[in-house]
Amino acid sequence: MKTDKTFTLTNDDTGESWTLPVLDGTEGPSVIDVRKLYADTGHFTFDPSYTSTASCKSRLTFIDGDEGVLMHRGYTIEELTDNSTFLEVAYLLLEGDLPSQKQMDDFTHNVTYHTMVHEQLHKFFTGFRRDAHPMAVMCGVVGALSAFYHDSLDIWDPKQREISAHRLIAKIPTLAAMTMKYALGQPFVYPRNDLNYAENFLHMCFALPAEPYKVSPTLAKAMDKILILHADHEQNASTSTVRLAGSSQANPFACISSGITSLWGPAHGGANQAVLAMLREIGSVDRIPEFIERAKDKDDPFRLMGFGHRVYKNYDPRAGVLKASCDEVLDELGVENEPLLEIARELEKIALQDEYFVERKLFPNVDFYSGIILKAMGFPEEMFTVLFAVGRTVGWVSQWKEMIEEPTLRIGRPRQLYTGPKKRSYVSIDKR
Ligand code: SDX
Repeated sequence: MKTDKTFTLTNDDTGESWTLPVLDGTEGPSVIDVRKLYADTGHFTFDPSYTSTASCKSRLTFIDGDEGVLMHRGYTIEELTDNSTFLEVAYLLLEGDLPSQKQMDDFTHNVTYHTMVHEQLHKFFTGFRRDAHPMAVMCGVVGALSAFYHDSLDIWDPKQREISAHRLIAKIPTLAAMTMKYALGQPFVYPRNDLNYAENFLHMCFALPAEPYKVSPTLAKAMDKILILHADHEQNASTSTVRLAGSSQANPFACISSGITSLWGPAHGGANQAVLAMLREIGSVDRIPEFIERAKDKDDPFRLMGFGHRVYKNYDPRAGVLKASCDEVLDELGVENEPLLEIARELEKIALQDEYFVERKLFPNVDFYSGIILKAMGFPEEMFTVLFAVGRTVGWVSQWKEMIEEPTLRIGRPRQLYTGPKKRSYVSIDKR
């Protein structure tokens, strides 16, 4: 962390200069420590969308945007999706290392036996219109968990932190499935302890009282992989929202609800639903050039959804894994030449040969292919971002836990460059 490297800042007007320490991480760019900058210089830094700002130290996830690398606790996303399971990745993110068999058995048991939600929550759903967007329901129902689990709200008690973490990881798929069932007008399906995490989630989403539902191992495996790919991603918008909410010492359920709210935006997790809408709007391969031109037109708000990324200036490794899964899932489902997939593949090919996209390093991101797989699996498009939230809850909870366990936890309080009116006197309305 601390190094003997420094940067010197000089005020060219007064000739004053200040020495700023440089901190090294284990991977990635070093940072200039500006914590004393305002006290020393009377100036703030200015970085409105935090493009050049490290908001915290973290040991969970590392992204190399130029190399297209994503690692969780040092393990690449490719190795984890090939060899691990979502629940094992959850343990890895929460605890820091891959579990022993006993640790994994205990963790699986704890999560499994927290998958049910308080029966009163069933009534909570009935307050929503059936056509409410599932993300609106999730924001509300996850925040409402703080009204049910008073025995795990003390964030300073490690045991209560652990219980609330397990509750959130366990209950988020149950609530997501209930949200889907409520929108469809079908009865809620209770969790089953004999199924693994992904199987249980698919069962709660697709089982019906009228007939037995057999979970397809291929779809369960694909679901598990999709959840791993969405688990965590450094300090993205929704994770930063969770951290800022948590810095005020708000309870974990409220913090995760704030993360869901931020994820909903089409520039973030809402993009997977927007990709399908875009592919449908394009409608056929021969209309792709028209939309590529629109995406380049500054006067046209149209953007290629599922393309571009704040950090990845190379291929998003998650998109590569999902693209490969597409074939497996569509074959398993017997979905012959899904037209939207054909348009997606052709769009990717054309965009990646177009100077505008190449120059701006706009590659497909995690959202580009996920929607096609989820649609093929039978999920309503409005559920896509909810599924993103199911995977990302593990990352949000792990990042929240890491922050609370920091000895130097302080409330986040950014400042600003004030550009409003100077001091002026009030004028009564009859004189305006
Ligand atoms: C996720 O942060 C994370 O880690 C997020 C995420 C996670 O796991 O948490 O990875 C999940 O949110 C993935 C991103 C999903 N969003 C989309 O697919 C929406 C479409 N993408 C764009 O909205 C955009 O690319 C962003 C928001 C993702 C990134 O925006 P940036 O980094 O602010 O990029 P920018 O807007 O500064 O764009 C740089 C240039 C601009 O052109 P110029 O002004 O330089 O001429 O690229 C252009 C932009 O106009 N551009 C696009 C484009 N994305 C950027 N042009 C057309 N289509 C696009 N998609």
